[in-house]
Amino acid sequence: MSRYSQLCPVYFGPGEVNNTGAIAKELGMTHVLLVTEKAIAETGIPERVMDSLLQSGIKVSIYDGVKMDAPDTTVMEGAQLAESIGADAVIGCGGGSSLDTAKGIALYVTNKKNVTIKKMIHFDPANPLILAPALKTIMIPTTSGTGSESTFVAVITDTETHQKCGCIVWANAAIVDPDLTLGLGKTITAYTGMDAFSHCNECLCNVMPNPHSDTLALSSMERIYKWLPVAVDDPNCKEARYNLAIASNFAGIAFQDSQVNVGHAMAHALGARLHIPHGIGCALVTPSVIELVAAARPEIYGKVAEIFELEISSVEELPTKLADAVRSFNRRIGIPSMKDLGFTREQVLSTVTYALGEMMRMGCIVPQDEAVLTDMMAKVYDNYQ
Ligand SMILES: [Fe+2]
Repeated sequence: MSRYSQLCPVYFGPGEVNNTGAIAKELGMTHVLLVTEKAIAETGIPERVMDSLLQSGIKVSIYDGVKMDAPDTTVMEGAQLAESIGADAVIGCGGGSSLDTAKGIALYVTNKKNVTIKKMIHFDPANPLILAPALKTIMIPTTSGTGSESTFVAVITDTETHQKCGCIVWANAAIVDPDLTLGLGKTITAYTGMDAFSHCNECLCNVMPNPHSDTLALSSMERIYKWLPVAVDDPNCKEARYNLAIASNFAGIAFQDSQVNVGHAMAHALGARLHIPHGIGCALVTPSVIELVAAARPEIYGKVAEIFELEISSVEELPTKLADAVRSFNRRIGIPSMKDLGFTREQVLSTVTYALGEMMRMGCIVPQDEAVLTDMMAKVYDNYQ
């Protein structure tokens, strides 16, 4: 059995951000809290969003307090502001942290009287909370990686425990304008691109894949393989940005159905314990995931090997050859190793306990125990220095 989702309309194309006001009006928004981060505010993109909203007669207030990994404290702060100004809608504009914070604010503001932030972000599928509907939202990504504009989850950090948690909330519309990513720095381009790549990989090896997410994930991988190095070398290449924007959004739609799993459990462990950016963690763990899964289920990776232009003469050589090809790709686009970042092998291995506790890892088609996860994490350090 398969389940496909069509979560919200996606308005895609260069210049589409200028239609934000018309899209917001159609959704009945009258007073928007625009959620962004200071670095994005400096690019002038939020001004374009504001201008478009104002031209459509919609009031706008701005919250630019977003921080990396979307701490719960910023969700509370933003919700307080949304309530005090009487906002009836939230627009997230920025990278993954801005979008997830905006989604979290939209849900918390309508539920804060009855539910603590802790309860809201520690989603328990066995015992789901009955929550009031969130304020209406539009998500406008300015990077090509997160896919959060097309998923039903906001990843929020519990600042007491440093755990990456999640709540169920989705956008009413997404505006994916590839031109917003023109000129984005080489490192952020590489990190976010590999986040999207890891979403695709984990879709393919999920215990519940489906033909919809497989098709989108493979198309997205193909675009990332071809265009991510181009965008890293030439941040203003329009064709590369166009394809990476599609790739990131397709990957988001794909993992909305098929779900990320052991790779993200490991990336979250590295992020929560060693505070490395999410995209680096995703890039570094993906070869370990491929090696594990391709050994047990080589048929999943035939098309991926073709995308990487590999000549595979036997299924036995597929896992190592493909994992090494992804490591070479990481090196080509400038992903640093854990050693480059100043971490020891022991520090990397110390994150295994956290990864083991991340239940999302059970979504992988190949089960893992502590020994398997330790081996996968050791490869993150040993096989990429
Ligand atoms: Fe991710």
